[in-house]
Amino acid sequence: MAASLEGSSGVRTRGLTRRFGHVLAVDHLDLDVAAGEIFGLVGPDGAGKTTTLRMIAGVIAPTEGAAEVLGLDVVRDGNRVRRRVGYVAQRFALYGDLTVAENIRFFADVYGLARGEWTAWAADILAFSGLTEFQGRLADNLSGGMRQKLALSCALIHRPQVLVLDEPTAGVDPVSRRDLWRILYRLQADGYTILLSTAYMDEAERCHRVGLLAGGRLVSAGTPDELRMGLPQTILEISLVEPSAADLRLARDLALQTPVARGAQLFGDRLHVIVTSPPDGEAVIRAISARLRVNQAAPITPTLEDVFLAARAPSP
Ligand SMILES: Nc1ncnc2c1ncn2[C@@H]1O[C@H](COP(=O)(O)OP(=O)(O)OP(=O)(O)O)[C@@H](O)[C@H]1O
Ligand SMILES: [Mg+2]
Repeated sequence: MAASLEGSSGVRTRGLTRRFGHVLAVDHLDLDVAAGEIFGLVGPDGAGKTTTLRMIAGVIAPTEGAAEVLGLDVVRDGNRVRRRVGYVAQRFALYGDLTVAENIRFFADVYGLARGEWTAWAADILAFSGLTEFQGRLADNLSGGMRQKLALSCALIHRPQVLVLDEPTAGVDPVSRRDLWRILYRLQADGYTILLSTAYMDEAERCHRVGLLAGGRLVSAGTPDELRMGLPQTILEISLVEPSAADLRLARDLALQTPVARGAQLFGDRLHVIVTSPPDGEAVIRAISARLRVNQAAPITPTLEDVFLAARAPSP
């Protein structure tokens, strides 16, 4: 499979910028993905994840700045970059009226691969993607999870070294999501560099490193632990006595109405409130206690979701 490039750069961007008319989709992004790691880009809708990945995959050109894949410039060495990158777009175009095997063959043809070069490899890919027994099925008749596995398989056919995957598990059921992650870990263990975007925080936790993108800018980057530990604000976790759904929403609104709250989010039956320091939390607890019965309230180690929310919250 792919050669190991430990310690070297998988993907590197400097001042990477893309405008669409007056929209600044990606704003001077400096991103470093080490060769051989799984790096996750997370960010709200419109944060610039897709635009960033498209520039790195050599699908669209930057307006300004540069991106390198395995040391190759995506503009100057575009063709060499595209040969080394397997890109799965957010709305990846599979051919619905072609079977699984025919789709793979189609992509082998697109890359100009000779038959001898890819058939054994395709069998390997189908086997570890769990698609062998579905080779004859039309892509239109696959489940969401199987479609994503097929998209990934097609992106692997030219033996790339770097995978660029735009929300590869969006709309996929939890079991298939786990399967897909098993495949990604297997590819990473074989030396692939994987850069993906995801809307799921539990998936961000599975990445070696994560970059938080907002408004086209990299707000922070690091291992999930580094991001959690590096959060300057305090996360206060509050639970109520036998709350209804309406009570929980009211608690969140009451928290947000206090001037010290920088953000608040419900996690099942618990409320997380971002405050600048623990004493500020007292005002939040008082505001909620005035209307509802508080069970417990204490500062906690932030989750990645908290970090993400804090990154989007207005600064004090
Ligand atoms: N081809 C385009 N023409 C005009 N504007 C665009 C184009 N592509 C993206 N944009 C704009 O650029 C910004 C970033 O979009 P992008 O698709 O990169 O975000 P995203 O983080 O991938 O969002 P999502 O989570 O919804 O996929 C948005 O404001 C979007 O409307
Ligand atoms: Mg997108």
